[in-house]
Amino acid sequence: MNSETPDNGSSRPGRKDDHVRLASEQRGDAPPRTDYDDLEFVHHALAGTNPERVDLSVTVGDWTWPTPFYVNGMTGGTETTARINRDLAIAAAETGMPMACGSMSVALEDPIAAQGFTVIREENPNGFVMANLGAGRGPEDARRAVGLLNADALQIHLNPVQETAMPEGTRDFSEWAHGLERIVEACPVPVVVKEVGFGLSRPTLELLESIGVRLADVSGAGGTDFLRIENARSTGSDFSMLSGFGQSALACLLDAPARSPVLLASGGVRHPYDVVKALACGARAVGVAGTFLQAVIDGGAEGLVEVVNTWQAQTRALFALLGAERADDLTRTDLLTRGRLGEFCRLRGID
Ligand code: FNR
Repeated sequence: MNSETPDNGSSRPGRKDDHVRLASEQRGDAPPRTDYDDLEFVHHALAGTNPERVDLSVTVGDWTWPTPFYVNGMTGGTETTARINRDLAIAAAETGMPMACGSMSVALEDPIAAQGFTVIREENPNGFVMANLGAGRGPEDARRAVGLLNADALQIHLNPVQETAMPEGTRDFSEWAHGLERIVEACPVPVVVKEVGFGLSRPTLELLESIGVRLADVSGAGGTDFLRIENARSTGSDFSMLSGFGQSALACLLDAPARSPVLLASGGVRHPYDVVKALACGARAVGVAGTFLQAVIDGGAEGLVEVVNTWQAQTRALFALLGAERADDLTRTDLLTRGRLGEFCRLRGID
């Protein structure tokens, strides 16, 4: 995903198709239990409210989004992935969901590949769209990526674990923080810094805050696993020894510092109950990649629209059950952590 990554024989477009295929294949053996299952709401039978009073819109920085979940950055740059982006964008336009695209480094170099990204803006001219680049790119690339999509925000992904496992990956991360600072200063739209499924720790969030990053998606472990994806693509070096590396989104949210960028969460979101749990732990909105990717692979744009309509109705019902008229109210619910997540909280001294 990172722009600095050289193409040692395995072409970048080929990699995009591999990522989609392997992410989809790996959903067949998803972990039976994740940190989402270790967070419970204490049930209060008289705490509920009327679903008609529920407002699903959320405030994220200066923006108001009509749904508390969005399509997270995934793909673009090949024929197959352009079709996926087109379907995701049609569904986003129809449902009002914000949407990000995958890493646009290939689009900056190849005008044909760029069409696999610009299709997002063509299909969704008025929606909230996020461009996407890796941390190794410079400010000029950031401006070009935003310009190509007329984007409302720019996601910058930090993927050091993936790069380590990727045969053609970058190994030197020493300039990333400095590079990020330059991008934030120069970017014409707000920057959302995100992981790709290994989490953003407390010191990382503190550092991001100190260099001027205003929004961060903790994108934690438990969903799409890029370590497994890269190990499957690799013919030589195998980093499966790192299996289980990283923190879940809920662990990151619960461990987040008081002074932090506005938090988004993603990683392993399977259904609206996971969305509600992430909101209750302080996320302002929740990104979904693998689950929505599978919905368009299975049913195209129409299939995803159906899923999103169901998610909206179920999220509303869950808010009503928990007595929340708005996402903010969920942060005042009664929460319990157990198992792995409970142990993480105890070890980190979190109440
Ligand atoms: C991703 N993800 C990703 N993120 C990013 O910032 N730039 C990218 O190019 C990609 N590429 C990509 C491809 C595919 C096929 C998938 C499924 C995902 C990571 C994604 O945004 C998210 O952080 C993780 O996938 C964790 O969320 P899920 O998939 O568990 O919901």
